[in-house]
Amino acid sequence: MKLLEVKNLSIRYGDFLAVKGVTFAVEKGGIFGIVGESGSGKSTIAKALMGLKEADSGEIVFQNKTKAQMIFQDAAGSLNPRMKVCDTLKEVLCHYGRSKLEAKKEAAQLVELVGLPPAVLDQYPHEMSGGQCQRVSIARALACGSEVLIADEPVSALDVSVQARILNLLRALNKSRGVTIVLIAHDLAVVKNICDEVIVLEKGVVVDSGEPESVFSAPKSEYTKSLIAAVPGKNLKPTHV
Ligand SMILES: Nc1ncnc2c1ncn2[C@@H]1O[C@H](COP(=O)(O)OP(=O)(O)O)[C@@H](O)[C@H]1O
Ligand SMILES: [Mg+2]
Repeated sequence: MKLLEVKNLSIRYGDFLAVKGVTFAVEKGGIFGIVGESGSGKSTIAKALMGLKEADSGEIVFQNKTKAQMIFQDAAGSLNPRMKVCDTLKEVLCHYGRSKLEAKKEAAQLVELVGLPPAVLDQYPHEMSGGQCQRVSIARALACGSEVLIADEPVSALDVSVQARILNLLRALNKSRGVTIVLIAHDLAVVKNICDEVIVLEKGVVVDSGEPESVFSAPKSEYTKSLIAAVPGKNLKPTHV
C-alpha cells in the first residue's frame, strides 16, 4: 500500500527551479531513500512533504491522517538546549494527550527503545554526544505518534561507526514498529544497504530509481555512476538487526 505519493512535483525559489517534476511513491512500512549531491533538492522535497514549503506544481498525497515528523542532520541544534531529555519528550507526549504520569513512563520507554541508558533522561543536549542527540530526536519523533519519519541527512554529521548504529536503530524501528522512513542522504553508502527503494536526484531531477541493488549494479545515468565511483568502499551495512 502506498503511504505517500508525490506526483510531478516542482518547487521554485523565486526564479530558480530547485525541484523539477519529481515523481515517486513510498510504500507503507518501507524505507525509501532519496540520494543526491548537496544542492540537488533533497531538503526542498523534505520541506514540501512536511508542508513547510509550497509546491509550484504537482501533488503530494499522504494516505489519510498520516502523521509525519522530520529528523535533522543537526540533532543537537534541533533540541531545546534548556530542556532535559525527559522534559523534551514529556512536553510532546502531554501535547498528544498523555497525563503527566503517563508521559513520564512513556518517556522512559522511548529512551530505552532508541537504545539510550535511563540516565540520559536527566541530561541536557550539551551533555550528550551527537549520536545520543540523534537518538533523542528520533524518540521525540516517535513520541508524536508519527507513522513516517522524514530523516534529512540524519547521520551526515556523525562518525562513521555512529552512523552505522543510528542506521541500525532506524531499521530496527522500521521492522519492530512498522515506521515508514524517508531517508535522505548525499552519500550512497548510507542508503545502499538499508533502503527498499531509492531515487537519485541530480539538480532537482530524478535520474535513477528502483531497488538499490539494481540502481547500484546497473545505474541508468552518468550521474549515478559518478556517485558510485565516489564511494570509498565504505560499508554501512546494518549488523545488529
Ligand atoms: N531559501 C532558499 N532560497 C533560494 N534558494 C534556495 C533556498 N533553499 C535552497 N535553495 C537552493 O535550492 C537548491 C536545492 O537546495 P536543497 O533542497 O537544500 O538541496 P539539498 O538538500 O539536496 O542539499 C540549491 O541550489 C539551493 O541553493
Ligand atoms: Mg539538504
